[in-house]
Amino acid sequence: MSRRDFPHWSDDCRIGLKAVDTEHQFLLSMLEHLNNVFRQGNKKNREEIATSLEQFIDYTRMHFRSEEDIMRLCHYDGYERHCQEHEVFISLAEGLLGEVQHSEIIQELEIINFLKNWLVTHFLQEDAKLNQLIL
Ligand SMILES: [Fe+2]
Ligand SMILES: [Fe+2]
Repeated sequence: MSRRDFPHWSDDCRIGLKAVDTEHQFLLSMLEHLNNVFRQGNKKNREEIATSLEQFIDYTRMHFRSEEDIMRLCHYDGYERHCQEHEVFISLAEGLLGEVQHSEIIQELEIINFLKNWLVTHFLQEDAKLNQLIL
C-alpha cells in the first residue's frame, strides 16, 4: 500500500462527538504511522513495528475506556454488545502483535487493512450510535 493509498481521516468518519472524533482521528494517524514503518520493510525494523503496534493497541484501549465511560454514564442499552466488540478487537490486535513479534513473515498489508477496516466500520456502525446519547 503506498502512502497515497492510505485512507486519511475525512468528514465521512465523523460521528459528531468532538472528543470521540478527535481520538478516532488520532487512531487513524497512528495506523498511518504504522503503515509507514511497515513500508521500510526489512527485518531490522521488526522491533519498531512491534513498538508502533503496541502503542496503537495502548491508545485504542484508552479510547475504548473513554467510550465505555460515556455509555455507562448514559445507561446505554447497547453497552454490553459494544464492549464485547472492543474486547474482541483488542484480542485480535494482540494476536497480530504476537505475529509481528514471532512469525518469520509479516503480512503487512493484511494487518493494516484489517485494523483500518475494523476501526472505520466500528466508528460508523457502533460509535455513531453514541451521538444520540448526549445532547
Ligand atoms: Fe471509537
Ligand atoms: Fe467503540
